[in-house]
Amino acid sequence: MEIDQQALKVTKKASVSEFKPASLLPEKKTVSQPTEWKNEYSVGIKTVDKQHQLIMSSFANIVNSIHSELAWSAIHYSILELKELALRHFAVEDALMELFGYPKITEHQTNHENFMNRLEEILNISIRKSANKELLALLEEWKTKHILGADMDYAKFILSGASVIRS
Ligand SMILES: [Fe+2]
Ligand SMILES: [Fe+2]
Repeated sequence: MEIDQQALKVTKKASVSEFKPASLLPEKKTVSQPTEWKNEYSVGIKTVDKQHQLIMSSFANIVNSIHSELAWSAIHYSILELKELALRHFAVEDALMELFGYPKITEHQTNHENFMNRLEEILNISIRKSANKELLALLEEWKTKHILGADMDYAKFILSGASVIRS
């Protein structure tokens, strides 16, 4: 008799949470997708892909740090790391586009400058208050519009038979 009552209690508890409307359940802290490397992200140029993998991994670190509510100092350090990776990577892309005479080089280089300026701005803001929202928006735009958009475009131009215009 005693055991039966216990079993009933457990069943009742489970059924209440089961039928709770989704809007009343605590918000799930999901990691922004996708930040991990997938083959479909490849632009087809080995050096660029390797750098993009490191950059994506840095994005993932930052996103995970934010969702795990780590201290800002940890996030700050990851941004500095991303800044270093991006500086080196943008220099490689700028050189490639110049070397092959990519027609949209000015627009692309402006995008690179814009990302660096925004990263710097976020670092400065973060001294006074959280800049997580701005940071997540920047990473999302960088990934979807730039790596999977603008970078694909210049790589396609180079791989479609463009020849070196600089000696
Ligand atoms: Fe890139
Ligand atoms: Fe780029």
